[in-house]
Parts: sequence; structure tokens; C-alpha cells
Amino acid sequence: MKKKITKAIFPVAGLGTRFLPATKSIPKEIMTLVDRPLIQYAIDEARAAGIKEFIFVTSRGKSALEDYFDHSPELESTLRRKDKTDLLELLKSTNMDSGAIAYLRQNRPLGLGHAVWCARRLIANEPFAVILPDDVIAAETPCLQQMVEAHAETGGNMVAAMEVPADKASAYGILDVQKAAQNIGDLVSVKGMVEKPAAKEAPSNLAVIGRYILTPDIMSNLNKIKSGKGGEIQLTDAIAQEIENSNNVYGYRFKGQRYDCGSKSGFLQATVAFGLSRPDLCDEFGDFLNDLMSMRAAAQ
Ligand code: UTP
Repeated sequence: MKKKITKAIFPVAGLGTRFLPATKSIPKEIMTLVDRPLIQYAIDEARAAGIKEFIFVTSRGKSALEDYFDHSPELESTLRRKDKTDLLELLKSTNMDSGAIAYLRQNRPLGLGHAVWCARRLIANEPFAVILPDDVIAAETPCLQQMVEAHAETGGNMVAAMEVPADKASAYGILDVQKAAQNIGDLVSVKGMVEKPAAKEAPSNLAVIGRYILTPDIMSNLNKIKSGKGGEIQLTDAIAQEIENSNNVYGYRFKGQRYDCGSKSGFLQATVAFGLSRPDLCDEFGDFLNDLMSMRAAAQ
């Protein structure tokens, strides 16, 4: 029987340089989309997929992230005294049970592959998920849940994939996929992966984004891998190794809209989209955006 996926790694030890100076003192993952930090979206997605153990790979300066999941007794008692039941419930929904979260340190930012490898002892011999919180995905069925359901059929390793235009390939890991006959519905069988290829060297238009379901063999591969593109230890290289070793890597074309909240433009796009999707905000915010666009058109 295939093992259930109950552990997820959240690599959050990156420097977040694209958001400097904000990230000088605020971890990127605490930045808010409307009123919830990025990390809350990631945790909610993981919970929906059945994850019970949440492993954060952090670094210096990320203590705000650790505090975020704690109880806040003073705030809770103030809200209780003022009868603010809704806010109290909202606050409680963000608390995590004692022992459900583990924090590990990545002492130096040696790359995503290295960050994942830091969690090897907690993963032991089980399959696990990896979620990059700066990829935020709006979807009817949360993306990781879609993947867990597909993985129950396939087993092996699975990466979330989406189509990107050729001129954007160099920003992603790109999949080399088997011919159509081996591809069923949303699943594609992967025969190779290339990290950040030049447009003309990209083997397909399918890019890997920040959701993975991986076998413990990936940790063994990471044990041996030397630094790759950009001098970092790449998770892509460890997954590509697994194609050679066992030929069981799948790409999963998820249903949903992905926002790259690690970039300024993606973060702004997500803010607008999530703002407009909120019933309590859409009217006022929508009117404001319409006025803004009319003024912009008139000025051109
Ligand atoms: P990014 O490539 O977005 O890097 O990492 P970054 O440092 O977070 O941001 P920029 O590029 O400087 O603006 C992708 C994910 O991998 C994690 C990051 O925290 C992010 O979730 N990561 C990256 C690590 O945990 N450790 C690393 O050494 C590198």
C-alpha cells in the first residue's frame, strides 16, 4: 500500500533580496496578501491536503515567522472581553498544535536543494511534500490536495507544472516530457529536467513551480549532489537524478492560478486578485481600480 503523505517541508531560509529593503527586518513569508501572511496560505493548503507535520527550514532573522503560529494569550483575552467572537475564531484558526511544527536552521543559503536536505532526519523513510510559500495558488481544490489525489494512483515523485511562454523559460526548471501516449490527463511522464534553460534550449513549455511530492530517495540524491546552476544545490538536480535511477517522476498540470509572490509584480497581481475575490472588499476596491484605469486611459 502507498504511504500517506503527512509531512511537508517549507523552505523559508532564502534571503528574499527582491523585496529589500522590506526583507531587512520582515521575513518575506510574513508579508501579507490582503490580511493574511503568505505562510498562512501555504499552511492552509497543506492542511487541506492532509499534512500533519509541518517542517520549516528557517534562517537568521525569521523569528517573526515562529511567533506567528503561537497562541497570543493577551490578544485573545482582550477579544474575549470585548465579545469579538469572529476575530477570536479567526485568530484561533492560525494557532498550530504543540509539536505539529518543527523549525530547523539552514546556516547558510546554499540553495533550495540544500534547504530540503536539512530536513532529512525528520523525514526519515517517508514520502513528503515540499511547499514554497512564495508560490501562491488560487484554486477551487487546493493544489497540493490535487497532487496528493493524483499521487495516490502513481506513487513516485511528482512536481507541479504549468505552461509558460518560451521567453520566460529561463526563470524556471523546465520539464522534458515523454511523448503524448504516456501522458494521461493532467499527468505527464518526465524524462528530464533542466534548471533555467535559455529559451532555445528549453525542452518543453512546462515549468516546475513550488509544489512537490517526493520520495526519501531524493534525500539520498541530495547527499551526493554538488552545487549546480548559480553555485546553489538545486532540488531540480536531485529530482533529475531520480529519473535516471528509477524513472518515476511525474509532472502534474494543476488546475488553478499561480502567483509568483517572490517577485514584486507577482505579489501586486496577487494582491489585486485576492482583494477582488473578497466579498467584503470587492465593491469598494473594484470601483477604485475602475476609476484608476479610467484616469490612466484619459491621461494617455
Ligand atoms: P528564491 O529563489 O525565491 O530565493 O527561493 P529567495 O532568497 O527566497 O529570494 P530572492 O531571490 O533573494 O528575492 C525559493 C524558495 O527557496 C527557499 C526560499 O526561502 C524560497 O522559499 N530557499 C532558497 C531556502 O530555503 N534556502 C536557500 O538557500 C535558497
